Amino acid sequence: MRNIYLIGFMGSGKSSVAKELSIQLDLPTRDTDTLIEETYKQTIPEIFEKFGEETFRDYESEILINTTKSGQVIATGGGIIEKEQNRKWLKENGIVIYLQTTWDEIVDRLKDDQLRPIWNNTQRDKKKLLDSREDKYIDTASFIVKTDNKEPKEIANEIIQLIR
Ligand code: S3P
Repeated sequence: MRNIYLIGFMGSGKSSVAKELSIQLDLPTRDTDTLIEETYKQTIPEIFEKFGEETFRDYESEILINTTKSGQVIATGGGIIEKEQNRKWLKENGIVIYLQTTWDEIVDRLKDDQLRPIWNNTQRDKKKLLDSREDKYIDTASFIVKTDNKEPKEIANEIIQLIR
């Protein structure tokens, strides 16, 4: 079975849904952010601070194309769809699920977050970022699942029905 890739904006629930899917489908789960931290031996905020977003994006693409072992559930970073090469790779290699979440719900879920460099960058317009990414998520997705007001278990169940 091809890998299942969860894509979506920060706060869309990719990691929690990946965990739930992995339990229900009895498949291993990975997370591109964690793989980056393990491979480059630095935290995501450290990479952004020391080397900037562009380097982080290069690391992210490198990690993505190495998730070739099949039968895994992979939660990706919210910006993985920024690069055309990543979108192409995902479409060719995975079952891609877009966890579509509204701006209001994202704000609510991330109100106490301090770990996401882009979310916590006051210079950036995050609503605009979400809007600019929306078409890329939709274009990359094999399936779209709306997540507002839903628990990870419910979302995982919907995904299982879709990919059957
Ligand atoms: C990012 C999202 C983060 C992480 C990095 C950049 C983004 O992952 O990859 O901070 O550009 O949206 P999550 O979507 O898991 O928060």
